[in-house]
Amino acid sequence: MIFHVLTLFPEMIENGMNTSITGRAIEKNLLQLDVRNIRDYTLDKHNHVDDAPYGGGAGMVMQAEPIYRAYKDLNVKPGTRLIYVTPQGRTFNQEIARELSNEEELVFLCGHYEGVDERVLELIATDYISIGDYVLTGGELPAMVMMDAISRLVPEVLHNHVSYEDESFSDNLLEYPQYTRPEVFEGKKVPEVLLSGHHANIARWRRNQSLLRTYERRPDLLKKVDLDKKDKKFFKEQGIDLSDKK
Ligand code: ADE
Repeated sequence: MIFHVLTLFPEMIENGMNTSITGRAIEKNLLQLDVRNIRDYTLDKHNHVDDAPYGGGAGMVMQAEPIYRAYKDLNVKPGTRLIYVTPQGRTFNQEIARELSNEEELVFLCGHYEGVDERVLELIATDYISIGDYVLTGGELPAMVMMDAISRLVPEVLHNHVSYEDESFSDNLLEYPQYTRPEVFEGKKVPEVLLSGHHANIARWRRNQSLLRTYERRPDLLKKVDLDKKDKKFFKEQGIDLSDKK
């Protein structure tokens, strides 16, 4: 996977992405990171990247020219998706992460100030994606959030291949609680079943915990889960009536 990033703050992207699991994946060449400073593509001698909006109003707008020139310089294959990171986009989720992880390369455009000249977006943007209904100071953190979520779906970036099948959202269920040594911590014991070595019982307990957790914390997700007979029986035993949820 090649990530191209167009930004005014390349060091922010590089520092973030070259850390931890994504950093190791870049070292191993499982991921390639190509960060371009939009300011390097200005034609005016003061390296301005923004100007006042036509029609007046507060703030500054990022100019089309340097962004377009930076994009052209990437020389990406025709059809390569360019994601404009913006609170006006559709909301990022695990499904979008999965879909984007199938691409060979992706371009992220990080905006700042009041926005970007609409004309360059019309020319180069294929996707408008937000990371949630709140406004950040720029697109760098959202781009990193998306690249992180996509990276861990790229084969071999994570060591244990089973873990992303089991984890939160893969089947619209939240992950079950996890425990490690010691067996007793501050008087709190690890659930007995996890020490039993009985794999079928452990699997059932985990499934039940996932169901319960999703019901309590994300009832909106539970509506999308295919519940089988045993799942329904479990909720019944808990005295939980799903008729208002499903
Ligand atoms: N830029 C500023 N806020 C943002 C958000 N919530 N998502 C994506 N890009 C943004």
